[in-house]
Amino acid sequence: MTTLILGIESSCDETAAAVVADGRRVLSSVVASQVDLHHPFGGVVPELAARRHIETINPVVDEALARAGVAPADLDAVAATQGPGLVGALLVGFCFAKAYAFGLGKPFFGVNHLEAHVHALFLCPEPPPPPFVALLVSGGHTSLFLVSETMAFRLLGRTRDDAAGEAFDKVAKMMGLGYPGGAAIEALASRGVPGRIRFPRALLENGGLDFSFSGLKSAVSRYLQTKPEAFETQKADIAAEFQDAVAEVLALKAVRAARQCDCRHLALVGGVAANGRVRECLTAHAEAAGLVVHVPPPSLCGDNAAMVAAAGTWLLKVGAPPCALDADVFSRFTP
Ligand code: KG4
Ligand code: ZN
Repeated sequence: MTTLILGIESSCDETAAAVVADGRRVLSSVVASQVDLHHPFGGVVPELAARRHIETINPVVDEALARAGVAPADLDAVAATQGPGLVGALLVGFCFAKAYAFGLGKPFFGVNHLEAHVHALFLCPEPPPPPFVALLVSGGHTSLFLVSETMAFRLLGRTRDDAAGEAFDKVAKMMGLGYPGGAAIEALASRGVPGRIRFPRALLENGGLDFSFSGLKSAVSRYLQTKPEAFETQKADIAAEFQDAVAEVLALKAVRAARQCDCRHLALVGGVAANGRVRECLTAHAEAAGLVVHVPPPSLCGDNAAMVAAAGTWLLKVGAPPCALDADVFSRFTP
């Protein structure tokens, strides 16, 4: 019998709903982006995000069910992101999902957003066999996890300051590329040459698994301040070198983590995993080290609800207790 799960995601600036069958097949995945709403402010305004989620959640869920050809009564469970994220934004999707599940008399599961990014791998044709090492690179997190057979997550290393996506967004802002910055930097970098200007690769020499991106961000800022006249002619090279510096550190640390854990399988997930250079650099270093690399397609890297449904399916499958109706959302995650 097929297990059908409705997933709902509202942790930041995307209102998303998806229907996933058996934790493997995406029957529908609807993502309503709020980029236009937040663009004039150069970043996500939490209050505006929450208000927009309220307006969008009903039509997005209806569309996900319609596209999947699934009636609400056919669902086996409902899952929604519980945290980490913006509390006001999370509350909209989480409370909607609780009420929806209660109304249908189906179990409801609260899902950890970071774990959901990793569960996106199981929606791909060849998921990594656990145990594997996962590098999660998003707007709020840059962390290395060892994922066990029971899908337990052991934190191996994380950023000591900015997340990689945050660095992309901040550098894009400095360069006048607007918000969100990751894809804009990637587009500009494609016209530049890395190495013409040199930016630092932090914490590579110390042998650890932690990251730091604030020094790189400051180096770009200093370069822009001291050589304003070079901006127009060098901006593509600046973007290319910045992107390479991030990609190299991510790749080298991820390979180091896989080696230390004696894992042959290495996964790359999260919004920054949509970046072509980051994917390419990690794949090259990992394959040279004899590792097998797993990266979801870009549509499953950024925030989406299919990954939430996949994580919810896992909770249902292992018999995890459904979430209590008075459960709350959480803004931060400390494993
Ligand atoms: O996972 P995600 O969608 O949301 C969070 O959980 O944070 O990640 C969003 C981050 C943003 O910082 C965005 O700039 C970055 O992912 N991003 C990219 C690219 N597409 C999105 N960074 C670099 N290159 C991209 N193509
Ligand atoms: Zn995310």
